[in-house]
Amino acid sequence: MSKKAWAGRFTESNSPLFEKMNRSLGFDIKMFKEDIELNTAYSKELSRIGILSAKDYQTIVAGLAELEKEIEEKGIEIFPDDTEDIHMGIESLLAEKIGDVAKKIHAGKSRNDQVATDVRMYVYNQVKKVIDELCDLLAALLKLAEDNQDAVMPGFTHLRQAQPVLFSHYIMSFFFSMSRDVERFSGSLDRISTLPLGSAALAGSAYPINRENLRKDLDFTRISCNSMDGVLSRDFLLETLSNISILSITLSRLAEDFILFSSEQYGFFDLSDKVTTGSSIMPNKKNPDSLELTRGKTGRVIGNMTGLFVTLKGLPSTYNKDLQEDKEAVFDSLETIIDLLQVTTILIDTMKINKERMNSSIDSLSFATELADYLAKNGLPFREAHHIVGRIVLDMVNQKKTLTSLSENDLLGYSEHFKNIGDDWGDIEKFLAKRELPGGTGRNAVKQELKEATLFLEHWS
Ligand code: ARG
Repeated sequence: MSKKAWAGRFTESNSPLFEKMNRSLGFDIKMFKEDIELNTAYSKELSRIGILSAKDYQTIVAGLAELEKEIEEKGIEIFPDDTEDIHMGIESLLAEKIGDVAKKIHAGKSRNDQVATDVRMYVYNQVKKVIDELCDLLAALLKLAEDNQDAVMPGFTHLRQAQPVLFSHYIMSFFFSMSRDVERFSGSLDRISTLPLGSAALAGSAYPINRENLRKDLDFTRISCNSMDGVLSRDFLLETLSNISILSITLSRLAEDFILFSSEQYGFFDLSDKVTTGSSIMPNKKNPDSLELTRGKTGRVIGNMTGLFVTLKGLPSTYNKDLQEDKEAVFDSLETIIDLLQVTTILIDTMKINKERMNSSIDSLSFATELADYLAKNGLPFREAHHIVGRIVLDMVNQKKTLTSLSENDLLGYSEHFKNIGDDWGDIEKFLAKRELPGGTGRNAVKQELKEATLFLEHWS
């Protein structure tokens, strides 16, 4: 017959097939430290209210500490084969170690509030790690932008050349996008750090435990206000999975750009050997696998998020075993995003840029707006100016001439409003100097961006 802790009312054992399906130890073992920390704090409360003697409490704390080291060393091996989950596993290993007194630690708690608490502790620590890794990546981007402030490159819309930009402006676009991810993850921390322990199965513990003591010992920000919500709520996981998905989309967009920009056709960037691979047949190949995997894993991360939304949709109130499905998705997404952040940081730290190539790739037609702006600033309605310049562009394309080769004299042939434009109207420095408003690609405006970014990192790191 089953030795399971809950099997008092059972006369038959579980089917081995169901047992396998029911078992979560394979993945919830990741939370062994959190479960031990929880049991340690909870036992202290039990001793305070007299359920455990001071001596029992000491024995339990020492036993749990030993167990933590053993699980750290040996992993899943030390658990009996029929262990259902980490909570049952720790309780039964503790009983093996210190005897029957271990059986007292579950008084007044349920695995429902226990698992909800463990997951919150685990996710909180991992989200903090995500924020740290994210700040490292932001620092790498900032350094790349600072070290290459002189470089210019074509800017694209619709993946067609639009207008030139400073390379540092381009790189900082990723910085500012991901600075919002730092804020999003940080903003979620207090919601994650809401303690359900004390909710018991669903109705609240029948023991006079002090949840405020537990909150302090377990380092939570606040306690949940409703036991039914306490055991059920997983919106903090949806929020974390959504935040991870949003961040992964930015990393994937960066990856897509960099795959293109490091290709032979563009030749803007060189990726280091640390993050590229060769081909098993073509000796010439250096493939951007790290970037492709970043793009690819984004699909998986979004899949994890979607999966949990579907799992939670339509669940009846409070704990249902469906909730056991939350962990693999969240653990996987957290690990994946941390890997992606670390590898992207290495890629940014070690890449080289080809300034010559970026500069010479700027298409002279991408200065067309300068001409239209000049006419508009000289009194022509912008739409009319746009039309005139459109004709000039068409002529240049037909005559296979570069737009910026047109002198003031040539331009006056199209409109008298080009008067005093000068022959160097298509100079890149002139282009940049006109864009010094905050957020523009002017050299000083970008210096200001770099300053803002430095302050941001000082605040968050
Ligand atoms: N392994 C379970 C989970 O991850 C723990 C909670 C089980 N609770 C229960 N009432 N069977 O959700």
